[in-house]
Amino acid sequence: MLESYYIEGGVPLRGEYRIKGAKNSALPVMAATVCRGGVYEIYDCPRIGDVFAMEEILKALGAKTRWEKDCIIVDSRGINEFAVPENLMAEMRSSVFLMGSLLARSGEAIIYRPGGCNIGKRPIDIHIDGLEQLGFEVESDDERISCKGTCRGGKITLAYPSVGATENLIMAALAGNGDTIIENCATEPEIADLQGFLRTGGFQVFGAGTDTIFVKGAGRESRNQGPENMMYFILEDRIEAATYMAAVLGTRGRAAFRNIRPEIMREVLGCFERMGARVRTFENTIEIWSPGRLKSPGIVVTQPYPGFPTDCQPQLMTLCSVAKGLTTVREEIFESRFTHKNDLIKMGADIETCGKNAIIKGVETLQGSEVCARDLRGGAALILAGLMAEGTTVINDAFHVQRGYEDLEKGLNSLGGIIETKRKKT
Ligand code: UD1
Repeated sequence: MLESYYIEGGVPLRGEYRIKGAKNSALPVMAATVCRGGVYEIYDCPRIGDVFAMEEILKALGAKTRWEKDCIIVDSRGINEFAVPENLMAEMRSSVFLMGSLLARSGEAIIYRPGGCNIGKRPIDIHIDGLEQLGFEVESDDERISCKGTCRGGKITLAYPSVGATENLIMAALAGNGDTIIENCATEPEIADLQGFLRTGGFQVFGAGTDTIFVKGAGRESRNQGPENMMYFILEDRIEAATYMAAVLGTRGRAAFRNIRPEIMREVLGCFERMGARVRTFENTIEIWSPGRLKSPGIVVTQPYPGFPTDCQPQLMTLCSVAKGLTTVREEIFESRFTHKNDLIKMGADIETCGKNAIIKGVETLQGSEVCARDLRGGAALILAGLMAEGTTVINDAFHVQRGYEDLEKGLNSLGGIIETKRKKT
């Protein structure tokens, strides 16, 4: 019996909401607790499926964990395993980060291929190539990847600015005795957050947020002597913020979001403004509303940061499906990230896809229907559609959404939304 969302649409969302810590920061930071044994208090950690899966992996490796409200405390001193169990690896793609942190800790790591997922093949060749450039010996087949050896460091270059590979290689480079310069890095704010965590823990990493990162090798002598009670606050979730903002705009509401800095969402806010949204920004708060029917933002192309984030593309498609005019959305990051398209069409949207492009002709309204979440952000896009639609929408397979959003329905309901989760016989 899986949970489904039941949504009554048509209510404008109003009020105030505090943005939670970022999934895409929490996962690499949790993995980074392995780099050196210590006790880490990670605040503003979202209570979501992917974080719980990472917690299970850390425990399987020998760490102890406990929660105090939104803080997870990880005691990584007892880690004595360097192989990530295959069954847990399959649960979550981000477990690939453990390759870097296990190498930093023990000089050896075994992981199992995270495999494809609903939004595309998602290979890890850039991770492996980077590890080899660092000097590690990597042996891999279709299932298992084992990595060991000495990190010689030096200058390495990524073939593409992959977020995960950048994060993984920063951690792996800590194992070296020498220094490493990583070029053509991804520049996402979550990478700077990982750097912040590692620096608070005493490592020397510089340049995250630019395309060149310097990592000072820390050797492995002090690997079991990390900080005793290190506190760290996770960066706010810019994708959660964009999702809520899209829900406010789509329902023609007005709301203020706390704990979100405008500078990490410039491209998204600019796109919303092109659609007719009004935005007021403060240091750490953003207020947003829509004075009338939204209009098409024209052509939107997903790109690595600071471009338009692929993780906001499905939510944008929902908004464009009722915005006046014709929108082209081009997905440049993942090859099959239009999984929500057919469900939006079932709800009355007019969308055609051709390769990387989706052409969306704005309709007046969407109609409630029974649809199915097929991946995390596509599921969130359907929740927005349900809030905007006339009548009732049922979205099956809520677990996809719960993997990456903490209590999305409670947050949206606190702004006036009408969403219930119920178990449904499959
Ligand atoms: C991270 C985010 C994810 C987001 C994505 C792009 C986390 C936990 N997840 O994922 O939410 O959608 O960034 O912003 O932070 N690629 C390769 N070979 C590799 C690695 C990546 O070909 O070795 C390709 C991928 O298939 C994809 C593109 O590069 O097409 C971007 O992937 P990447 O930046 O690595 O994304 P993730 O780190 O997986």
